[in-house]
Amino acid sequence: MAVDLLLGLQWGDEGKGKIVDVLTSNYNIIARFQGGPNAGHTLVFNGMKHVLHTIPSGIFHDSAKNLVGNGVVIDPVIFKKELDKLEEQNVDYRKSLLISRKAHLILPTHRLLDAASETAKGKAKIGSTLKGIGPTYMDKTGRNGIRVGDLELSDWKEKYRALANKHEAMIDFYDVNIQYQLKELEAEFFEAIEVLKSLTFIDSEEYIYQAQKSGKTILAEGAQGSLLDIDFGTYPFVTSSNTTAAGACTGLGVAPNQIGEVFGIFKAYTTRVGSGPFPTELFDEVGETMGRVGNEFGATTGRRRRCGWLDLVALKYACQVNGVTQLMMMKADVLSGFKSLKVCTAYNYKGKTITHLPYNIEAENVTPIYSELKGWKEDLTEMDNDSQLPKELNDYIDYLEKELEIPIKIVSVGPDRKQTIFR
Ligand code: IMP
Repeated sequence: MAVDLLLGLQWGDEGKGKIVDVLTSNYNIIARFQGGPNAGHTLVFNGMKHVLHTIPSGIFHDSAKNLVGNGVVIDPVIFKKELDKLEEQNVDYRKSLLISRKAHLILPTHRLLDAASETAKGKAKIGSTLKGIGPTYMDKTGRNGIRVGDLELSDWKEKYRALANKHEAMIDFYDVNIQYQLKELEAEFFEAIEVLKSLTFIDSEEYIYQAQKSGKTILAEGAQGSLLDIDFGTYPFVTSSNTTAAGACTGLGVAPNQIGEVFGIFKAYTTRVGSGPFPTELFDEVGETMGRVGNEFGATTGRRRRCGWLDLVALKYACQVNGVTQLMMMKADVLSGFKSLKVCTAYNYKGKTITHLPYNIEAENVTPIYSELKGWKEDLTEMDNDSQLPKELNDYIDYLEKELEIPIKIVSVGPDRKQTIFR
């Protein structure tokens, strides 16, 4: 069976966790392929909210296996906290959770390095979640990293010490005031490593290959969004992994010709957390209302998300880079009550009208050009059927489908599993 992908098409926080949870009953395996605890995937069901960072969003379903793929970076301390929460909720994860031996480990000093690097950048800071993601991927590409499989070797602690010492020298080099007690951080880290070691480590590319061969259904769950991709995002204000479709190939070992459906998730408007350009950002009451009604605060850091109108130039670009076959529009309910809705269809770029995403979308180069559509008043949150959607929302959907040339198959009208309308 081909592997289906589920990807965020904006700057993250599109609602991937909810949709994976909704779709999990169709899949035997849910696999994360990049990112790490910088992600916060929120699931709401039976009146309870659950936030996952590294563990795939299929974990609440008994039937699915959940794989943390080779492209993911794991912080054992945060991972242990996630496991503790699952235990509190009586989720039996031991049989269903699998970890790739080739996934890299986030060390306590990676987190410290992240903080030192951001502090040193001053005003130019990325707005990182400070989870150590960048430094860990740097060690991966620099061929210095420690992988999950190393924990099965007798000399891994020597490797750890050498790397941690090097990191401490690098932190000194930054010459910023970062206070830390490494002994305490290490005690917590080594305790969490023991918990990690009690889980099942696998050669995940072989596992995925055999699963595909035997007809198992697999969903690859993306983290962050396409505009945070290290290559195709708004560099340098991006994360350190490939969040786009290609990342699923390298982060799981899936051959490109084995990709099936590519589900692209977007919010009915746009949000961004952290620094970086955002052409359709609103600084007025409308943006404030979106943030308040949409409860736009980061699931990992609690930071307020910046809000703005839907940017079709950026969305088209994301659909293109990922080969999206089906769209899912999230948080349509948040737009209820706006008299009119704006959608950015082109940019004024250095005096010219363009419809593609240019190299630089900083505000001094780009001004959005909008089309305006009629809003709707109805509360959507109790709706559970396509036929109940107000005419203006259907017009909004039709407009987007025409522009993007891809069908919108799901409209989400609230955070709960049940608040999902299939079209
Ligand atoms: P890092 O990946 O923690 O280094 O953060 C780099 C940039 O990506 C920052 O602007 C973060 O706010 C953003 N970012 C990272 N992970 C997420 C996410 O899961 N959702 C939204 N933004 C994210």
